[in-house]
Amino acid sequence: MSITKEARRVLEMNDMGGYTVPRPKLYPFQWNWDSCLVALGFMTMNEKRAWREIDMLFQGQWTNGMVPHIVYHRESENYNPGPEIWQVVSALGIPTSGISQPPVAAFCIKRMYDIAKDKKAAKEQVLKFLPRLFKYHKWYHTVRDPMNTGLVSILHPWESGRDNSADWDDPLRHVSIENLLEYKRKDTNFVDPSERPRKEDYDRYMSLVQHCREHKHDPEGHFETSPFRVADTTINFILARADQDLLAMMEELDPKAFENEISTIKDWVKTSKAATKRLWDEEDELYHCIDLLKGERIKSNSSGGFTAFLSGWVDKEKSVILVEKLKAWREESGKHIASFDPYSPRYVARRYWRGPVWAIVNFLIYEGLMLSGEEDIAKEVAYDTSVLMRESLFAEYYDPGTCDGLGGDSFSWTAAMWLYWLEPLQKELGFKDDLPVKKTAT
Ligand code: DGY
Repeated sequence: MSITKEARRVLEMNDMGGYTVPRPKLYPFQWNWDSCLVALGFMTMNEKRAWREIDMLFQGQWTNGMVPHIVYHRESENYNPGPEIWQVVSALGIPTSGISQPPVAAFCIKRMYDIAKDKKAAKEQVLKFLPRLFKYHKWYHTVRDPMNTGLVSILHPWESGRDNSADWDDPLRHVSIENLLEYKRKDTNFVDPSERPRKEDYDRYMSLVQHCREHKHDPEGHFETSPFRVADTTINFILARADQDLLAMMEELDPKAFENEISTIKDWVKTSKAATKRLWDEEDELYHCIDLLKGERIKSNSSGGFTAFLSGWVDKEKSVILVEKLKAWREESGKHIASFDPYSPRYVARRYWRGPVWAIVNFLIYEGLMLSGEEDIAKEVAYDTSVLMRESLFAEYYDPGTCDGLGGDSFSWTAAMWLYWLEPLQKELGFKDDLPVKKTAT
């Protein structure tokens, strides 16, 4: 059996009928950025099914434009917090979470359109999603940046998608757990606790969920009073790319109909381009997050800083510095881009976002490097990612030193990354589509 066949099997297995779960027991619902990246994988198998994935995600969109991080299309006892904790629904009445996630939707939809064989159907789909994408981006640029600073904020570490990154250690100190209601973790029923966030982090996540629920119909109040308010590198640089991709699709497909939106997006892009400069840290020579409650950059080096390339706004001088740093990190952690600085005492090779390497982050960094003319290192990143999958198949994340698969296995977005990104590069980069060395397909 080939890796490609196994990747297809994983997507089919995790398909709940129109939407895909990341992994049925560990994450039994539809997750925002997982689904968008999974749709890229489906695009190589069944285009209609791929568009359906996005459709189901946008069934979770709120009237104010937010696309939540989880859409609860069904019930499951296996995950906490479920819909009964958040107590909110989408414009269509579907239960959802009350926060969002990295806005990769426009970025993925553009790439889906670019590789579509059925261009007529793809155009129809894209035209349908453009107004919804605009509404989503507008939510980020207004509700999450009410003063129009050019930097949008997150109000929960889960919104970054990098839940327990050491980037959040300092800002989470503002979060009190004094009034925390009792809760029961379910994730550690399925994954070794040493590979998941610590209890002290989880307590704060749940306290922030409570805070969000108190303001469920009051986004301004949620923003104003949140004890956690951060400008995240990943979110801001992904939004920068997604805004530009949204603009490109509107300009190509119907510039007249989207005249007003195009002008608004151009303003967003201009403001963000100037504002994201504030994320550069001269001393650490990396892009950092900003704790907006303290008004200070967070002194913490994570792989989120490398997503800056996605914006297309990294100048040559910084580009050289970042590529050197990327290479140094790879060498230090075992030839893979660790999610956290492997030279730091806070680095933990096997704990979720505090060290492990993630295929989807490698993909985002690859795309950014290619966009920024850094092809050689981009291709090395792609080759290295193929090694992870050839060694340990489609893990949620991997130990950068040993390539061991960690967290959930048969993981949807990792399989999708093989199908969309790596499989087409096989011949050029010289790796094989054969069974992994460490594990056999299950
Ligand atoms: C989790 O539960 O680990 C998720 O990442 C939250 O979205």
